[in-house]
Amino acid sequence: MKKSVVVVLGTQWGDEGKGKIVDLLTERADAVMRYQGGHNAGHTLIINDEKTVLHLIPSGILREGVKCYIGNGVVIEPAALIKEIKNLEASGVDVQSRLYLSKSAPVIMPYHIKLDQLRETKKGKAAIGTTGRGIGPSYEDKVARRGILVGDLLDAELLKEKLSTVLDYHNFVIENYHQAQPLDFNEVYNNALEQAAFIKNMCVDVTDALHTHLNKDHKLLMEGAQGSLLDIDHGTYPYVTSSNTTSGSASTGSGLGATHIDYVLGITKAYTTRVGGGPFPTELFDEDGVELAKRGVEFGATTGRPRRCGWLDLVALKRAVQVNGVSGLCVTKIDVLDSFKTIKLCTSYGDQSFPGSIKEWTNVTPEYKSFAGWQSSTRGMTEFNQLPQAAKVLVDYIAEFTGAPIHMISTGPDRCENILLVDPMT
Ligand code: GDP
Ligand code: IMO
Ligand code: MG
Repeated sequence: MKKSVVVVLGTQWGDEGKGKIVDLLTERADAVMRYQGGHNAGHTLIINDEKTVLHLIPSGILREGVKCYIGNGVVIEPAALIKEIKNLEASGVDVQSRLYLSKSAPVIMPYHIKLDQLRETKKGKAAIGTTGRGIGPSYEDKVARRGILVGDLLDAELLKEKLSTVLDYHNFVIENYHQAQPLDFNEVYNNALEQAAFIKNMCVDVTDALHTHLNKDHKLLMEGAQGSLLDIDHGTYPYVTSSNTTSGSASTGSGLGATHIDYVLGITKAYTTRVGGGPFPTELFDEDGVELAKRGVEFGATTGRPRRCGWLDLVALKRAVQVNGVSGLCVTKIDVLDSFKTIKLCTSYGDQSFPGSIKEWTNVTPEYKSFAGWQSSTRGMTEFNQLPQAAKVLVDYIAEFTGAPIHMISTGPDRCENILLVDPMT
């Protein structure tokens, strides 16, 4: 079957290597779009040793001529977006002529950022460990039907009206609940108008633009942010992000109905990481955890925080395969396991069924199956047959357990370090 729309998403707690894979597959795409999340994401691209970290802009931007869309499901912080555009343009990437923003996307306003940070501080030890970017409060305003959308920024009178009501409401909470300084209306309003002038020409009807691509038989890549265990419905609630990170979002966050989606590529690391608070059944606190962090250079691409590390959790991965309708898996960072004598995969949560509450998540006792390591370098391999037998056994077991075939294996951070078994784009 000809594939027109391919979704690439994370099957763990984020940072699986989505950016790298989207950039790689964009070679055969006409357009790339982000459909959920915001600048809480940090997607790393490494091309000939040169590193680019993208937060809001789709990971197709480094491929000349490819159009990039930010859909209605994304929350957009204009200052962060403008900074990202200017940084890329300073390094010679043409952005403004091929980046398009949905007028229906909610804006992250300064009070969202302030509220996110004030709440986290108030929670103390129980903090979610958010990125402090205002993601949650902006999505809340959308659902509460008081959000300011990108299109509203373009209409000075409408913006004034909406902002005065919503700022009143949030300032009340900021002052009376958090005992903090309220925000000044004129400052927020004037900054928003300035930002609107910058982004105005990039604002379009993204849904219509995507359907126009489809009518021309173009190939579209849909880039997920975060990971399935951070999904607001299917994740480790309340230690999650505030959007649906699973594949249904690719439809709702773009305006491409579910039947338009041809293929879902689920990205998983060969182990697991998590940034921020919350349950992580296979987390390691011993030297194996330290080794994973060191070899995998596990620091957040957005906040720089150290990532918690542990063995691959096949129980959680199998759930992610089901929830997303994964067509094929891409196993990344297999090279990080090169030094291990023994590698473990979590194959059961003991007598507990899949957790449905934070209490159940906290009570999980993981059970493992041990595999022999290969203790030789897989870095940069491009053919499945080059892999040591022990690595092949590990990868085959992941497919067997989860019921999803392995279509790609990533053997290093660079764009060219991959084994392509089945091309998701054809
Ligand atoms: P994303 O948020 O899913 O796009 O992932 P991040 O960019 O936050 O984190 C993935 C990190 O792993 C980045 O530093 C990548 O450069 C790196 N990376 C991706 N794939 C591989 C791989 O196969 N091997 C190694 N060693 N590093 C990788
Ligand atoms: P990418 O796209 C890893 C985590 C935060 C926190 C929780 C809620 O790079 O994989 P939020 O600011 O979204 O309200 O924080 O979600 N988180 C991520 N962790 N990768 C990400 O994005 C993340 N985006 C949010 O650390 O635990
Ligand atoms: Mg990341």
